[in-house]
Amino acid sequence: YDQLQPYRTGYHFQPPKNWMNDPNGPMYYNGVYHLFYQYNPQGATWAGGLLSWGHSVSYNLVDWIHLEPALDPTDAFDINGCWSGSATILLDGTPVILYTGSDSEKRQVQNLAFPKNASDPYLSEWVKSEHNPIMTPVDEMNNEFRDPTTAWQGPDGKWRVIIGCELSGYGAAVLYLSEDLVNWTKSHRPFYSTKRAKWWECADFFPVSVNGNNGLDTYVIDGNIKHILKASFNNSDYYVIGTYEPEIDQFVADDGIEDFLDDNVDLRYDYGMFYGSKTFYDGAHRRRIVWAWIMEAESQSDDLKKGWSGLQSLPRTILLDEGGKQLLQWPVREIETLRTKKISIQNYEVKGGAAFEITGVTASQADIEVSFHLPNLDDTELLHPEWRDPQVLCSRKNASAGGKVGPFGLMVLASSDLTEHTDIFFRIYNKGNYEYVVLMCSDQTRSSLREGVGKSTFGAFVNVDPTQNISLRSLIDHSIVESFGGGGKSCITARVYPQLAVGNEAHLYVFNYGTESVVISNLSAWSMKSAELLPLDERTKSQV
Ligand code: FRU
Repeated sequence: YDQLQPYRTGYHFQPPKNWMNDPNGPMYYNGVYHLFYQYNPQGATWAGGLLSWGHSVSYNLVDWIHLEPALDPTDAFDINGCWSGSATILLDGTPVILYTGSDSEKRQVQNLAFPKNASDPYLSEWVKSEHNPIMTPVDEMNNEFRDPTTAWQGPDGKWRVIIGCELSGYGAAVLYLSEDLVNWTKSHRPFYSTKRAKWWECADFFPVSVNGNNGLDTYVIDGNIKHILKASFNNSDYYVIGTYEPEIDQFVADDGIEDFLDDNVDLRYDYGMFYGSKTFYDGAHRRRIVWAWIMEAESQSDDLKKGWSGLQSLPRTILLDEGGKQLLQWPVREIETLRTKKISIQNYEVKGGAAFEITGVTASQADIEVSFHLPNLDDTELLHPEWRDPQVLCSRKNASAGGKVGPFGLMVLASSDLTEHTDIFFRIYNKGNYEYVVLMCSDQTRSSLREGVGKSTFGAFVNVDPTQNISLRSLIDHSIVESFGGGGKSCITARVYPQLAVGNEAHLYVFNYGTESVVISNLSAWSMKSAELLPLDERTKSQV
Protein backbone atom coordinates (compact mmCIF):
# COMPACT_ATOMS: atom_id res chain seq x y z
CA TYR A 1 0.00 0.00 0.00
CA ASP A 2 1.39 3.32 -1.15
CA GLN A 3 0.52 6.37 0.97
CA LEU A 4 0.90 8.70 -1.99
CA GLN A 5 -1.32 6.47 -4.10
CA PRO A 6 -3.97 5.14 -1.71
CA TYR A 7 -6.34 4.21 -4.55
CA ARG A 8 -3.97 1.98 -6.54
CA THR A 9 -5.14 -1.61 -6.29
CA GLY A 10 -3.33 -4.72 -5.13
CA TYR A 11 -4.85 -7.37 -7.35
CA HIS A 12 -6.94 -5.64 -10.00
CA PHE A 13 -5.41 -5.15 -13.43
CA GLN A 14 -4.09 -1.70 -14.21
CA PRO A 15 -1.17 -0.37 -16.25
CA PRO A 16 1.67 1.35 -14.32
CA LYS A 17 0.18 4.76 -15.16
CA ASN A 18 -2.09 6.66 -17.58
CA TRP A 19 -5.59 6.30 -18.94
CA MET A 20 -7.26 2.92 -19.58
CA ASN A 21 -10.81 2.11 -20.71
CA ASP A 22 -12.34 -0.94 -22.45
CA PRO A 23 -10.71 -4.37 -22.45
CA ASN A 24 -9.89 -5.28 -26.07
CA GLY A 25 -9.31 -8.58 -27.81
CA PRO A 26 -8.75 -10.78 -24.74
CA MET A 27 -7.60 -14.25 -25.71
CA TYR A 28 -5.77 -17.37 -24.66
CA TYR A 29 -3.11 -18.38 -27.18
CA ASN A 30 -0.37 -21.01 -26.81
CA GLY A 31 -0.42 -21.06 -23.03
CA VAL A 32 -0.53 -17.28 -22.60
CA TYR A 33 -3.43 -14.98 -21.71
CA HIS A 34 -3.45 -11.69 -23.59
CA LEU A 35 -5.25 -8.58 -22.46
CA PHE A 36 -5.30 -5.54 -24.72
CA TYR A 37 -6.99 -2.36 -23.59
CA GLN A 38 -7.86 1.17 -24.64
CA TYR A 39 -4.79 3.08 -23.49
CA ASN A 40 -3.38 6.60 -23.69
CA PRO A 41 0.42 6.29 -23.53
CA GLN A 42 0.70 10.07 -22.99
CA GLY A 43 -1.40 10.67 -19.92
CA ALA A 44 -4.38 10.11 -17.65
CA THR A 45 -7.17 11.34 -19.96
CA TRP A 46 -9.11 9.81 -22.84
CA ALA A 47 -7.43 12.46 -25.01
CA GLY A 48 -10.24 12.88 -27.52
CA GLY A 49 -9.92 9.18 -28.33
CA LEU A 50 -6.33 9.32 -29.53
CA LEU A 51 -5.69 5.89 -28.03
CA SER A 52 -3.47 2.87 -28.50
CA TRP A 53 -4.05 -0.77 -27.69
CA GLY A 54 -2.14 -1.37 -24.46
CA HIS A 55 -0.96 -4.96 -24.19
CA SER A 56 -0.19 -7.21 -21.21
CA VAL A 57 0.28 -10.96 -20.93
CA SER A 58 -0.15 -13.48 -18.14
CA TYR A 59 0.24 -17.16 -17.42
CA ASN A 60 -2.35 -17.24 -14.65
CA LEU A 61 -4.76 -14.28 -15.06
CA VAL A 62 -3.38 -12.87 -11.78
CA ASP A 63 0.20 -11.71 -12.47
CA TRP A 64 0.78 -9.63 -15.60
CA ILE A 65 3.69 -8.56 -17.74
CA HIS A 66 3.23 -5.17 -19.38
CA LEU A 67 4.43 -4.98 -22.99
CA GLU A 68 4.64 -2.09 -25.45
CA PRO A 69 1.30 -1.10 -27.05
CA ALA A 70 0.22 -3.52 -29.77
CA LEU A 71 -1.47 -0.91 -31.97
CA ASP A 72 -0.78 2.81 -32.18
CA PRO A 73 -2.65 5.42 -34.26
CA THR A 74 -0.20 5.71 -37.14
CA ASP A 75 -2.13 5.29 -40.40
CA ALA A 76 -4.85 7.23 -42.25
CA PHE A 77 -7.38 4.53 -41.25
CA ASP A 78 -6.67 4.90 -37.49
CA ILE A 79 -4.71 8.15 -37.13
CA ASN A 80 -7.27 9.57 -34.67
CA GLY A 81 -7.32 6.49 -32.47
CA CYS A 82 -7.19 2.69 -32.35
CA TRP A 83 -10.52 1.94 -30.68
CA SER A 84 -12.11 -1.18 -29.28
CA GLY A 85 -12.26 -4.55 -30.98
CA SER A 86 -11.78 -8.27 -30.62
CA ALA A 87 -9.47 -11.16 -31.31
CA THR A 88 -10.45 -14.15 -33.41
CA ILE A 89 -8.45 -17.37 -33.49
CA LEU A 90 -8.50 -18.75 -37.05
CA LEU A 91 -8.84 -22.42 -37.92
CA ASP A 92 -5.09 -22.79 -38.33
CA GLY A 93 -4.72 -21.52 -34.78
CA THR A 94 -3.37 -18.05 -35.53
CA PRO A 95 -5.06 -14.99 -34.02
CA VAL A 96 -6.18 -11.85 -35.81
CA ILE A 97 -7.49 -8.57 -34.46
CA LEU A 98 -10.47 -6.63 -35.75
CA TYR A 99 -10.65 -3.11 -34.36
CA THR A 100 -12.20 0.29 -34.97
CA GLY A 101 -10.08 3.10 -36.30
CA SER A 102 -10.97 6.75 -36.06
CA ASP A 103 -9.64 7.73 -39.48
CA SER A 104 -8.12 10.96 -40.79
CA GLU A 105 -11.65 12.39 -41.17
CA LYS A 106 -12.72 10.97 -37.79
CA ARG A 107 -14.89 8.42 -39.53
CA GLN A 108 -15.34 5.19 -37.60
CA VAL A 109 -13.99 2.39 -39.79
CA GLN A 110 -13.06 -1.24 -39.12
CA ASN A 111 -9.54 -2.56 -39.51
CA LEU A 112 -7.67 -5.87 -39.46
CA ALA A 113 -4.26 -6.70 -37.91
CA PHE A 114 -2.06 -9.82 -37.65
CA PRO A 115 0.76 -10.87 -35.37
CA LYS A 116 4.12 -10.12 -36.98
CA ASN A 117 5.47 -13.44 -35.76
CA ALA A 118 2.89 -15.99 -34.61
CA SER A 119 5.57 -18.02 -32.85
CA ASP A 120 6.63 -15.12 -30.59
CA PRO A 121 5.19 -16.33 -27.26
CA TYR A 122 4.02 -12.81 -26.32
CA LEU A 123 2.86 -11.74 -29.80
CA SER A 124 4.39 -8.41 -29.04
CA GLU A 125 4.32 -6.96 -32.56
CA TRP A 126 1.24 -6.52 -34.74
CA VAL A 127 0.99 -5.64 -38.42
CA LYS A 128 -1.97 -3.77 -39.86
CA SER A 129 -3.54 -5.15 -43.04
CA GLU A 130 -2.71 -3.30 -46.25
CA HIS A 131 -6.42 -3.59 -47.12
CA ASN A 132 -7.54 -1.37 -44.25
CA PRO A 133 -10.12 -0.02 -43.79
CA ILE A 134 -12.11 -3.17 -44.44
CA MET A 135 -15.52 -1.70 -43.49
CA THR A 136 -16.76 1.88 -43.60
CA PRO A 137 -19.99 3.32 -42.14
CA VAL A 138 -23.16 3.78 -44.21
CA ASP A 139 -25.15 7.05 -43.93
CA GLU A 140 -27.86 5.80 -41.57
CA MET A 141 -25.17 5.07 -39.01
CA ASN A 142 -24.45 8.70 -38.49
CA ASN A 143 -20.82 7.74 -37.86
CA GLU A 144 -21.64 5.62 -34.80
CA PHE A 145 -20.16 2.33 -35.96
CA ARG A 146 -17.66 0.56 -33.78
CA ASP A 147 -16.22 -2.29 -31.74
CA PRO A 148 -16.34 -5.45 -33.94
CA THR A 149 -16.96 -8.75 -32.10
CA THR A 150 -14.96 -11.94 -32.31
CA ALA A 151 -15.79 -13.49 -35.69
CA TRP A 152 -17.41 -16.91 -36.13
CA GLN A 153 -18.12 -19.08 -39.15
CA GLY A 154 -21.60 -20.03 -40.30
CA PRO A 155 -22.55 -23.40 -41.85
CA ASP A 156 -21.54 -21.99 -45.28
CA GLY A 157 -18.01 -21.37 -44.03
CA LYS A 158 -18.28 -17.57 -44.26
CA TRP A 159 -17.05 -15.43 -41.40
CA ARG A 160 -19.58 -13.36 -39.48
CA VAL A 161 -19.04 -10.42 -37.23
CA ILE A 162 -21.45 -8.01 -35.60
CA ILE A 163 -20.81 -4.35 -34.99
CA GLY A 164 -22.71 -1.98 -32.75
CA CYS A 165 -24.02 1.15 -34.42
CA GLU A 166 -26.74 3.69 -34.76
CA LEU A 167 -29.36 2.85 -37.38
CA SER A 168 -31.58 5.83 -38.20
CA GLY A 169 -31.69 6.92 -34.58
CA TYR A 170 -31.83 3.50 -32.91
CA GLY A 171 -29.17 1.38 -31.24
CA ALA A 172 -28.49 -1.74 -33.29
CA ALA A 173 -26.03 -4.41 -34.24
CA VAL A 174 -25.33 -5.02 -37.92
CA LEU A 175 -24.02 -8.29 -39.29
CA TYR A 176 -21.19 -8.45 -41.82
CA LEU A 177 -20.11 -11.53 -43.79
CA SER A 178 -16.81 -12.40 -45.42
CA GLU A 179 -14.94 -15.30 -46.99
CA ASP A 180 -11.47 -13.95 -46.35
CA LEU A 181 -11.78 -11.44 -43.46
CA VAL A 182 -10.82 -8.68 -45.88
CA ASN A 183 -13.86 -8.27 -48.15
CA TRP A 184 -17.02 -7.83 -46.09
CA THR A 185 -20.69 -7.51 -47.09
CA LYS A 186 -23.27 -5.94 -44.84
CA SER A 187 -26.40 -7.97 -44.22
CA HIS A 188 -29.58 -6.00 -45.10
CA ARG A 189 -31.44 -6.90 -41.96
CA PRO A 190 -30.13 -5.50 -38.67
CA PHE A 191 -29.08 -8.34 -36.42
CA TYR A 192 -30.86 -6.82 -33.43
CA SER A 193 -31.95 -3.38 -32.37
CA THR A 194 -33.38 -1.50 -29.43
CA LYS A 195 -35.33 1.71 -29.08
CA ARG A 196 -33.87 2.27 -25.65
CA ALA A 197 -30.52 3.62 -26.79
CA LYS A 198 -29.40 5.73 -29.70
CA TRP A 199 -26.39 3.58 -30.45
CA TRP A 200 -24.53 0.57 -29.15
CA GLU A 201 -20.98 0.15 -27.98
CA CYS A 202 -18.92 -2.98 -27.47
CA ALA A 203 -21.38 -5.62 -28.69
CA ASP A 204 -20.57 -9.19 -27.72
CA PHE A 205 -22.18 -12.38 -29.03
CA PHE A 206 -21.39 -15.86 -27.77
CA PRO A 207 -22.84 -19.30 -27.07
CA VAL A 208 -23.55 -20.68 -23.61
CA SER A 209 -24.27 -24.26 -22.70
CA VAL A 210 -27.81 -24.99 -21.49
CA ASN A 211 -26.96 -27.63 -18.93
CA GLY A 212 -23.33 -27.64 -18.26
CA ASN A 213 -20.61 -25.99 -16.33
CA ASN A 214 -18.26 -25.47 -19.24
CA GLY A 215 -17.94 -22.38 -21.36
CA LEU A 216 -18.13 -22.66 -25.13
CA ASP A 217 -15.86 -21.48 -27.90
CA THR A 218 -17.39 -18.77 -30.12
CA TYR A 219 -17.37 -21.09 -33.15
CA VAL A 220 -19.97 -23.39 -31.51
CA ILE A 221 -23.23 -22.59 -33.29
CA ASP A 222 -25.41 -25.63 -32.59
CA GLY A 223 -26.18 -28.16 -29.90
CA ASN A 224 -27.95 -27.65 -26.61
CA ILE A 225 -27.00 -24.00 -26.44
CA LYS A 226 -28.34 -20.49 -26.15
CA HIS A 227 -26.70 -17.32 -27.37
CA ILE A 228 -26.04 -14.19 -25.38
CA LEU A 229 -26.12 -10.80 -27.07
CA LYS A 230 -24.61 -7.98 -25.03
CA ALA A 231 -24.46 -4.26 -25.69
CA SER A 232 -23.03 -1.37 -23.73
CA PHE A 233 -25.11 1.80 -23.43
CA ASN A 234 -26.52 4.12 -20.73
CA ASN A 235 -23.51 3.31 -18.51
CA SER A 236 -24.33 -0.40 -18.24
CA ASP A 237 -23.73 -3.70 -19.99
CA TYR A 238 -27.13 -5.18 -20.90
CA TYR A 239 -27.76 -8.62 -22.31
CA VAL A 240 -30.48 -10.76 -23.79
CA ILE A 241 -30.63 -14.55 -23.91
CA GLY A 242 -31.90 -16.07 -27.12
CA THR A 243 -31.56 -18.53 -29.94
CA TYR A 244 -29.32 -18.02 -32.93
CA GLU A 245 -30.31 -19.74 -36.15
CA PRO A 246 -27.10 -19.88 -38.17
CA GLU A 247 -28.77 -20.93 -41.44
CA ILE A 248 -30.66 -17.66 -41.64
CA ASP A 249 -28.45 -15.59 -39.33
CA GLN A 250 -31.29 -14.71 -37.08
CA PHE A 251 -31.14 -14.10 -33.35
CA VAL A 252 -34.46 -14.37 -31.52
CA ALA A 253 -34.72 -13.38 -27.88
CA ASP A 254 -36.34 -15.86 -25.49
CA ASP A 255 -39.97 -15.35 -24.53
CA GLY A 256 -40.43 -12.63 -22.00
CA ILE A 257 -37.30 -10.81 -23.04
CA GLU A 258 -38.40 -8.35 -25.64
CA ASP A 259 -35.89 -5.63 -25.27
CA PHE A 260 -32.80 -4.82 -23.27
CA LEU A 261 -34.56 -2.50 -20.92
CA ASP A 262 -37.88 -4.23 -20.90
CA ASP A 263 -39.86 -3.00 -17.91
CA ASN A 264 -39.90 -6.46 -16.41
CA VAL A 265 -36.50 -7.74 -17.39
CA ASP A 266 -33.44 -5.73 -16.68
CA LEU A 267 -30.58 -8.12 -17.27
CA ARG A 268 -27.18 -6.62 -16.68
CA TYR A 269 -23.78 -8.14 -16.06
CA ASP A 270 -23.38 -5.84 -13.12
CA TYR A 271 -25.68 -3.29 -11.48
CA GLY A 272 -22.84 -0.99 -10.44
CA MET A 273 -19.90 0.25 -12.49
CA PHE A 274 -18.97 -2.21 -15.22
CA TYR A 275 -18.76 -1.11 -18.86
CA GLY A 276 -17.53 -2.04 -22.33
CA SER A 277 -17.06 -5.67 -21.34
CA LYS A 278 -15.74 -8.42 -23.55
CA THR A 279 -15.65 -12.20 -23.19
CA PHE A 280 -13.27 -14.81 -24.54
CA TYR A 281 -13.06 -18.59 -24.47
CA ASP A 282 -10.27 -20.12 -22.42
CA GLY A 283 -9.72 -23.54 -23.99
CA ALA A 284 -7.22 -24.61 -21.32
CA HIS A 285 -9.93 -24.59 -18.67
CA ARG A 286 -13.01 -24.84 -20.88
CA ARG A 287 -14.53 -21.65 -19.57
CA ARG A 288 -15.70 -18.31 -20.91
CA ILE A 289 -14.30 -15.29 -19.12
CA VAL A 290 -15.53 -11.70 -19.06
CA TRP A 291 -13.49 -8.55 -18.45
CA ALA A 292 -14.83 -5.00 -18.12
CA TRP A 293 -13.67 -1.47 -17.70
CA ILE A 294 -14.33 -0.08 -14.22
CA MET A 295 -14.09 3.66 -14.59
CA GLU A 296 -13.19 6.23 -11.95
CA ALA A 297 -15.78 8.08 -9.90
CA GLU A 298 -13.27 10.86 -9.25
CA SER A 299 -12.92 14.02 -11.32
CA GLN A 300 -10.55 14.44 -14.21
CA SER A 301 -8.34 16.73 -12.15
CA ASP A 302 -8.05 13.93 -9.54
CA ASP A 303 -7.08 11.54 -12.35
CA LEU A 304 -4.43 13.97 -13.55
CA LYS A 305 -3.08 14.31 -10.02
CA LYS A 306 -2.80 10.59 -9.47
CA GLY A 307 -1.53 10.06 -13.02
CA TRP A 308 -3.87 7.24 -13.94
CA SER A 309 -7.50 6.46 -14.59
CA GLY A 310 -9.45 3.20 -14.87
CA LEU A 311 -9.27 -0.40 -13.68
CA GLN A 312 -10.25 -3.72 -15.16
CA SER A 313 -12.75 -5.87 -13.26
CA LEU A 314 -11.53 -9.17 -11.95
CA PRO A 315 -11.79 -11.68 -14.77
CA ARG A 316 -15.05 -13.59 -14.18
CA THR A 317 -16.25 -16.92 -15.51
CA ILE A 318 -19.63 -16.53 -17.12
CA LEU A 319 -22.25 -19.29 -17.45
CA LEU A 320 -25.96 -19.65 -18.06
CA ASP A 321 -27.75 -20.13 -14.75
CA GLU A 322 -29.86 -23.24 -14.18
CA GLY A 323 -33.27 -22.42 -15.52
CA GLY A 324 -31.79 -20.42 -18.36
CA LYS A 325 -33.19 -17.06 -17.32
CA GLN A 326 -29.98 -15.26 -16.43
CA LEU A 327 -26.21 -15.48 -16.36
CA LEU A 328 -24.03 -16.44 -13.45
CA GLN A 329 -20.63 -14.86 -12.84
CA TRP A 330 -17.79 -15.68 -10.47
CA PRO A 331 -14.19 -14.44 -10.20
CA VAL A 332 -11.82 -16.92 -11.86
CA ARG A 333 -10.53 -19.35 -9.27
CA GLU A 334 -6.90 -18.29 -9.81
CA ILE A 335 -7.71 -15.15 -7.78
CA GLU A 336 -8.00 -17.45 -4.75
CA THR A 337 -4.25 -18.15 -4.92
CA LEU A 338 -3.78 -14.65 -3.47
CA ARG A 339 -5.73 -15.52 -0.33
CA THR A 340 -3.54 -15.59 2.70
CA LYS A 341 -4.44 -15.10 6.37
CA LYS A 342 -7.91 -16.50 7.00
CA ILE A 343 -10.56 -15.77 9.63
CA SER A 344 -13.70 -17.90 9.89
CA ILE A 345 -16.94 -17.78 11.79
CA GLN A 346 -19.59 -20.48 11.91
CA ASN A 347 -23.14 -20.56 13.10
CA TYR A 348 -23.19 -17.19 14.77
CA GLU A 349 -26.35 -15.25 15.50
CA VAL A 350 -26.36 -11.54 14.72
CA LYS A 351 -29.21 -10.01 16.68
CA GLY A 352 -31.35 -7.18 15.31
CA GLY A 353 -29.48 -3.87 15.64
CA ALA A 354 -26.05 -5.46 16.11
CA ALA A 355 -22.74 -4.92 14.34
CA PHE A 356 -19.35 -6.45 15.06
CA GLU A 357 -15.89 -6.12 13.67
CA ILE A 358 -13.99 -8.85 11.84
CA THR A 359 -10.41 -8.35 12.92
CA GLY A 360 -7.25 -10.07 11.77
CA VAL A 361 -7.50 -9.51 8.02
CA THR A 362 -6.18 -6.61 5.96
CA ALA A 363 -9.52 -4.92 5.45
CA SER A 364 -8.29 -2.72 2.60
CA GLN A 365 -7.26 -5.76 0.51
CA ALA A 366 -9.51 -8.70 1.28
CA ASP A 367 -11.84 -11.38 -0.03
CA ILE A 368 -14.92 -12.20 2.07
CA GLU A 369 -17.44 -14.97 1.57
CA VAL A 370 -20.42 -15.12 3.86
CA SER A 371 -23.66 -17.05 3.87
CA PHE A 372 -26.62 -16.00 5.97
CA HIS A 373 -29.45 -18.10 7.30
CA LEU A 374 -32.73 -16.31 8.03
CA PRO A 375 -34.51 -18.12 10.85
CA ASN A 376 -37.63 -15.97 10.86
CA LEU A 377 -39.31 -14.85 7.67
CA ASP A 378 -42.79 -14.53 9.14
CA ASP A 379 -42.68 -10.79 9.41
CA THR A 380 -41.01 -9.37 6.30
CA GLU A 381 -41.74 -5.94 4.92
CA LEU A 382 -44.28 -5.69 2.14
CA LEU A 383 -42.94 -4.80 -1.29
CA HIS A 384 -45.16 -2.15 -2.78
CA PRO A 385 -46.13 -3.10 -6.37
CA GLU A 386 -44.72 0.21 -7.56
CA TRP A 387 -41.31 -0.41 -6.10
CA ARG A 388 -39.77 -1.84 -9.21
CA ASP A 389 -36.45 -0.13 -9.50
CA PRO A 390 -33.97 -1.74 -7.09
CA GLN A 391 -31.52 1.14 -7.32
CA VAL A 392 -34.21 3.60 -6.26
CA LEU A 393 -35.24 1.26 -3.44
CA CYS A 394 -31.66 1.03 -2.20
CA SER A 395 -31.23 4.80 -2.38
CA ARG A 396 -34.40 5.49 -0.45
CA LYS A 397 -33.62 2.93 2.20
CA ASN A 398 -29.93 2.95 2.79
CA ALA A 399 -28.16 0.79 5.36
CA SER A 400 -29.06 3.07 8.27
CA ALA A 401 -32.80 2.91 7.55
CA GLY A 402 -33.93 0.04 9.75
CA GLY A 403 -36.16 -2.78 8.58
CA LYS A 404 -37.40 -6.18 9.60
CA VAL A 405 -35.42 -8.89 7.80
CA GLY A 406 -32.51 -6.74 6.82
CA PRO A 407 -30.67 -4.62 6.15
CA PHE A 408 -27.89 -7.09 6.99
CA GLY A 409 -24.51 -7.55 5.36
CA LEU A 410 -20.96 -6.20 5.30
CA MET A 411 -19.63 -2.78 6.15
CA VAL A 412 -16.31 -2.45 4.34
CA LEU A 413 -13.56 0.14 4.08
CA ALA A 414 -14.79 1.63 7.35
CA SER A 415 -12.81 4.17 9.37
CA SER A 416 -12.36 3.49 13.09
CA ASP A 417 -14.76 6.31 13.97
CA LEU A 418 -17.26 4.95 11.41
CA THR A 419 -17.54 8.29 9.65
CA GLU A 420 -16.57 6.46 6.48
CA HIS A 421 -17.93 3.13 5.29
CA THR A 422 -19.31 1.32 2.26
CA ASP A 423 -22.23 -1.02 2.93
CA ILE A 424 -23.18 -4.11 0.96
CA PHE A 425 -26.37 -5.62 2.26
CA PHE A 426 -29.62 -7.47 1.69
CA ARG A 427 -33.22 -6.68 2.56
CA ILE A 428 -35.98 -9.24 2.30
CA TYR A 429 -39.45 -8.20 1.20
CA ASN A 430 -42.60 -10.13 0.47
CA LYS A 431 -45.16 -9.51 -2.23
CA GLY A 432 -47.84 -11.09 -0.04
CA ASN A 433 -48.56 -14.84 -0.04
CA TYR A 434 -45.05 -15.55 1.24
CA GLU A 435 -43.58 -14.74 -2.14
CA TYR A 436 -40.23 -13.26 -1.21
CA VAL A 437 -38.06 -10.74 -2.98
CA VAL A 438 -34.39 -10.34 -2.13
CA LEU A 439 -32.88 -6.90 -2.63
CA MET A 440 -29.10 -6.41 -2.73
CA CYS A 441 -27.60 -2.95 -2.27
CA SER A 442 -24.16 -1.41 -2.43
CA ASP A 443 -24.38 1.92 -0.66
CA GLN A 444 -21.50 4.33 -1.24
CA THR A 445 -23.14 7.44 0.26
CA ARG A 446 -20.76 7.42 3.22
CA SER A 447 -17.76 5.86 1.49
CA SER A 448 -15.65 9.01 1.78
CA LEU A 449 -15.48 12.26 3.71
CA ARG A 450 -14.12 13.82 0.54
CA GLU A 451 -16.33 16.12 -1.50
CA GLY A 452 -16.56 15.81 -5.25
CA VAL A 453 -16.21 12.05 -5.63
CA GLY A 454 -19.03 9.79 -6.86
CA LYS A 455 -21.03 8.20 -4.04
CA SER A 456 -23.93 6.58 -5.87
CA THR A 457 -26.01 3.81 -4.41
CA PHE A 458 -26.50 0.70 -6.54
CA GLY A 459 -29.13 -2.01 -6.24
CA ALA A 460 -30.33 -5.25 -7.79
CA PHE A 461 -32.86 -7.95 -7.09
CA VAL A 462 -31.32 -11.36 -6.50
CA ASN A 463 -33.24 -14.33 -7.77
CA VAL A 464 -32.74 -16.58 -4.73
CA ASP A 465 -35.02 -18.19 -2.20
CA PRO A 466 -34.44 -16.66 1.26
CA THR A 467 -35.74 -19.79 2.99
CA GLN A 468 -32.38 -21.20 1.86
CA ASN A 469 -29.09 -19.54 2.74
CA ILE A 470 -28.22 -16.26 1.02
CA SER A 471 -24.60 -15.75 0.06
CA LEU A 472 -22.49 -12.68 -0.50
CA ARG A 473 -18.91 -12.43 -1.67
CA SER A 474 -17.13 -9.07 -1.66
CA LEU A 475 -13.65 -8.46 -3.00
CA ILE A 476 -12.17 -5.31 -1.57
CA ASP A 477 -9.13 -3.71 -3.13
CA HIS A 478 -8.47 -0.15 -1.82
CA SER A 479 -10.72 1.80 -4.22
CA ILE A 480 -12.89 -0.96 -5.65
CA VAL A 481 -15.46 -3.28 -4.10
CA GLU A 482 -16.77 -6.09 -6.32
CA SER A 483 -19.73 -7.91 -4.81
CA PHE A 484 -21.45 -11.13 -5.90
CA GLY A 485 -24.90 -11.92 -4.49
CA GLY A 486 -26.51 -15.36 -4.55
CA GLY A 487 -23.42 -17.12 -5.89
CA GLY A 488 -23.01 -14.66 -8.77
CA LYS A 489 -26.64 -14.14 -9.81
CA SER A 490 -26.45 -10.41 -9.17
CA CYS A 491 -23.17 -8.51 -9.18
CA ILE A 492 -22.48 -4.96 -8.06
CA THR A 493 -19.14 -3.20 -8.52
CA ALA A 494 -18.38 0.16 -6.90
CA ARG A 495 -15.46 2.58 -6.81
CA VAL A 496 -14.77 4.36 -3.52
CA TYR A 497 -12.20 6.91 -2.38
CA PRO A 498 -11.94 6.85 1.41
CA GLN A 499 -9.85 9.46 3.14
CA LEU A 500 -9.47 7.79 6.55
CA ALA A 501 -10.22 4.13 5.80
CA VAL A 502 -7.02 3.56 3.82
CA GLY A 503 -4.30 0.94 4.21
CA ASN A 504 -4.13 -0.37 7.79
CA GLU A 505 -6.73 2.17 8.89
CA ALA A 506 -9.51 0.30 7.11
CA HIS A 507 -11.92 -1.89 9.09
CA LEU A 508 -14.45 -4.55 8.27
CA TYR A 509 -17.79 -5.24 10.00
CA VAL A 510 -20.82 -7.46 9.78
CA PHE A 511 -24.08 -5.73 10.62
CA ASN A 512 -27.75 -6.39 10.99
CA TYR A 513 -29.96 -3.31 11.28
CA GLY A 514 -33.21 -5.21 10.87
CA THR A 515 -35.33 -6.23 13.84
CA GLU A 516 -35.09 -9.97 13.14
CA SER A 517 -31.97 -11.98 13.97
CA VAL A 518 -29.91 -13.41 11.14
CA VAL A 519 -27.43 -16.25 11.50
CA ILE A 520 -24.02 -16.34 9.87
CA SER A 521 -23.88 -19.97 8.72
CA ASN A 522 -20.40 -19.47 7.48
CA LEU A 523 -18.05 -16.58 7.02
CA SER A 524 -14.52 -16.73 5.65
CA ALA A 525 -12.40 -13.63 5.23
CA TRP A 526 -8.93 -13.60 3.77
CA SER A 527 -6.24 -10.99 3.50
CA MET A 528 -5.21 -10.83 -0.14
CA LYS A 529 -1.61 -10.72 -1.34
CA SER A 530 -0.79 -8.33 -4.14
CA ALA A 531 -0.52 -9.61 -7.68
CA GLU A 532 2.71 -8.98 -9.60
CA LEU A 533 2.22 -6.50 -12.42
CA LEU A 534 5.50 -5.48 -14.01
CA PRO A 535 6.86 -4.18 -17.28
CA LEU A 536 8.76 -6.87 -19.18
CA ASP A 537 12.24 -5.47 -18.43
CA GLU A 538 11.62 -5.19 -14.67
CA ARG A 539 10.16 -8.64 -14.57
CA THR A 540 13.23 -10.07 -16.29
CA LYS A 541 15.43 -8.22 -13.79
CA SER A 542 13.48 -9.48 -10.77
CA GLN A 543 13.93 -13.05 -11.95
CA VAL A 544 17.68 -12.85 -12.43
C1 FRU B 1 -16.65 2.38 -25.05
C2 FRU B 1 -16.00 3.11 -26.21
C3 FRU B 1 -16.05 2.29 -27.48
C4 FRU B 1 -14.93 2.86 -28.28
C5 FRU B 1 -13.91 3.13 -27.21
C6 FRU B 1 -13.04 4.32 -27.48
O1 FRU B 1 -16.17 2.78 -23.81
O2 FRU B 1 -16.61 4.38 -26.39
O3 FRU B 1 -17.30 2.32 -28.14
O4 FRU B 1 -14.44 1.98 -29.25
O5 FRU B 1 -14.60 3.32 -26.00
O6 FRU B 1 -12.08 4.48 -26.49
